[in-house]
Amino acid sequence: MAIQLPPLPYPDTALEPYYSSKTFGFHHGKHHKAYVDNLNKLIAGTPLEAKPLEELIVGSAGDAAKAGIFNNSAQVWNHTFFWNCMRPGGGGRPQGNLAARIDGAFGGYEKFAEQFKAAAVGRFGSGWGWLTLDGGALKITSTANADTPMANRQTALLTVDVWEHAYYLDYQNRRPDFIQAFLEHLVNWDFVAANLATAR
Ligand code: FE2
Repeated sequence: MAIQLPPLPYPDTALEPYYSSKTFGFHHGKHHKAYVDNLNKLIAGTPLEAKPLEELIVGSAGDAAKAGIFNNSAQVWNHTFFWNCMRPGGGGRPQGNLAARIDGAFGGYEKFAEQFKAAAVGRFGSGWGWLTLDGGALKITSTANADTPMANRQTALLTVDVWEHAYYLDYQNRRPDFIQAFLEHLVNWDFVAANLATAR
């Protein structure tokens, strides 16, 4: 069974004006699809063809000879995770246990938001901003290119894509404005809370 491109979890107009259908057309329809297609070409006719996506990622992480498989499998996973990190009418403050955990780890939502923005804006070049669970503790981090928390023994809770293709059509070079809109209007905190609840 080849790796599939999952559909967006909402219509491609649902996040406007903060994330346009035009961006989704390229970002999901072209970029995400290309990672799926490239990965399927790389694993076709090999024993890897039968493996779940997560095993492809963990099994190729840190192996220079498998860089193509790692980059494409991690990018397939990162993008699917990112779509689910957003929802129409999202953003603002988390609630309940997640809010308490964020308060405990970072000293309040404002400090969390400040550190998350700094990590995402400060990632030089292409990559991802993350909230992860690392050894049981909440942690803000960023990764370069395709790198992903599960390759670093961390559990992803929230991500924002900071590759230019993620925001250029809507925000041009203004990455900080995109991160601000993501936090204020797009974050799906229910998804983040569910990731925390099911983290091992
Ligand atoms: Fe992307």
